[in-house]
Amino acid sequence: MNSWVNQVFCEDALEGLARIPDASIDLILTDPPYNLGKDYGNGSDQQSVQDYLAWTEQWIDKALPKLKPNGSLYIFLTWRFAPEIFVMLKQRMTMMNEIIWDRRVPSMGGSVRSFSSVHDTIGFFVNRKDYYFDLDAVRIPYDAETKKARSRSIFVGAKWLEVGYNPKDLWSVSRLHREHPERADHPTQKPLEIIERMIKASCPPGGVVLDPFMGSGTTAVAARRLGRHYAGFELNPAYCEIIEARLAAPEVPVASKKRKAEAKSAAVRTLDVPEPTLIADKAQTKAA
Ligand SMILES: C[S@@+](CC[C@H](N)C(=O)[O-])C[C@H]1O[C@@H](n2cnc3c(N)ncnc32)[C@H](O)[C@@H]1O
Repeated sequence: MNSWVNQVFCEDALEGLARIPDASIDLILTDPPYNLGKDYGNGSDQQSVQDYLAWTEQWIDKALPKLKPNGSLYIFLTWRFAPEIFVMLKQRMTMMNEIIWDRRVPSMGGSVRSFSSVHDTIGFFVNRKDYYFDLDAVRIPYDAETKKARSRSIFVGAKWLEVGYNPKDLWSVSRLHREHPERADHPTQKPLEIIERMIKASCPPGGVVLDPFMGSGTTAVAARRLGRHYAGFELNPAYCEIIEARLAAPEVPVASKKRKAEAKSAAVRTLDVPEPTLIADKAQTKAA
């Protein structure tokens, strides 16, 4: 039994990554501090540019050896440091996409000397040509109107119409408002919808997703919902408690039948005796 699987460690990722064996991770999915001055209770988002970029390079070099040869990485960034960090990653991996997450921020005045920034920049990188990628798992069904418009005989039975379309690289998904049922007390919590799309596309059922910067634990929650394993770190003890609570809560049902079947077929490992610094996935331990 691997003591690091299905665990979020409440500790500095730069130290904790040593717990994870090399070449054991299918997908690194992470949302590190953006260095925009946010208060995560630890100064990680308030560094000088030089320190921030040096720190970023440090964690990248500790995290990448954990990936399997056919593994992938998604990283959330903003326009401010995406160029520098993409260059770092392009020296180590192959860049497949720049995905724009349109947070659907409503117009509320905002900047007067520049255009209001309403998107996150996400990099999708792979190690090798034979990387895992399941497009069918994330296709978006065509709506009834489009299907009807394509009902002419030349389109009938067209596979692309039946299987749905590629989600493309512009993802328009609302950020989580205060009153959203998914919302936890974390300033930069990401919607499950986005994280789940990445996991379904880039981590095989039963595989392992690593997030060195868990925040409120969205990656762990999504991985569990989809029958994947997870591992990760979070520095702020208050956020670790949020993660623990989210993982202990009854699981939100996975929507489609396909996802249910997929989750069922993936073996979920149980835990060894948890160490005091661990956030044990209590719900899962109980179920085992
Ligand atoms: C952008 S947030 C992640 C939000 C997360 N994706 C979610 O949906 O809740 C980045 C997180 O990294 C944590 N963090 C910063 N430095 C860290 C470090 N060295 N090790 C582990 N966690 C760290 C911060 O406390 C913060 O919660």
